Amino acid sequence: MAPRKIIIDTDPGQDDAVAILLALASPEEIEVLGITAVAGNVPLDLTSKNARIICELAGKVDVSVFAGCDRPLGRDLVTAEHVHGKTGLDGPDLPDPMMPLQDQHAVDYIIDTLDTEDAGTVTLCPLGPLTNIATAFQRAPEIVEKVQQIVLMGGAYFEVGNITPAAEFNIYVDPEAADIVFKSGVDIVVMPLDVTHKALVTKPRNDGFRALKTPVGVAVAEMTDFFERFDKEKYGSAGAPLHDPCVTAYLIKPGLFTGRHINVEIETASELTLGMTVADWWGVTDRPANATFIGGIDADGFFDLLTDRLARL
Ligand code: BDR
Ligand code: CA
Repeated sequence: MAPRKIIIDTDPGQDDAVAILLALASPEEIEVLGITAVAGNVPLDLTSKNARIICELAGKVDVSVFAGCDRPLGRDLVTAEHVHGKTGLDGPDLPDPMMPLQDQHAVDYIIDTLDTEDAGTVTLCPLGPLTNIATAFQRAPEIVEKVQQIVLMGGAYFEVGNITPAAEFNIYVDPEAADIVFKSGVDIVVMPLDVTHKALVTKPRNDGFRALKTPVGVAVAEMTDFFERFDKEKYGSAGAPLHDPCVTAYLIKPGLFTGRHINVEIETASELTLGMTVADWWGVTDRPANATFIGGIDADGFFDLLTDRLARL
């Protein structure tokens, strides 16, 4: 089967970085058309720089990286240096990128690509706030029906929030954008905290990355070393959750994941629960299903896949 064409929309972020590396290491299943950066974990100048640092780490200097929206649709930007460090990629010592940032705005690139490619052949993979995607949908509504699928990391239900008691970071940062995307009618697969908190880098798994003895393996081990301190302290968990790589792993091996096709709505009004993904897991409403909400993962299978693929870079 031909590889799936994807655009990765991202705010790197150590876990975004691993998601990108996994995609770039998997050309049989995934063709990365381009990477679009958005403000999220850190401001846009850093996310657009970090995306290029990761491409260079992977030895893929021909990937086109575009900078997009520098703030949410209608709110001030909330960032997460408390999790990812000042640069967003704290941990390894990686050189500044030499590869250029594309001149075109990420939103224009998303619109142009969906206009140009055959309908139903491009999948969007958002790993950060949904600002770029929602802006593209608002500006060029005709592209919406051309999207093959959206596979995104965001939201939480049983696991509740990580940035507020009710909301997960990516959705909380730009709830209006998330609302537009979830109401778009596009086929959506959601990787919420309910599943990503089961994808934990335990010590043996991190040793597995380091044992690759490659620049990529060592950098990923150092990234997760840094990233894990926050979750270990907060949740008492065994290591760092690899949120965003669940998205790219799903494209390669969907059988690693289980979920339900349900209705998911975004809270945009309440101050208390702003950005909550209200997931009708038990089907207690007659609201139509609009997303596949993932809850289960074969974590060993996921880490085997990830380690095998990272070894290729
Ligand atoms: C999400 O927020 C960011 O901190 C991570 O990169 C991930 O995309 C997890 O809530
Ligand atoms: Ca992210």
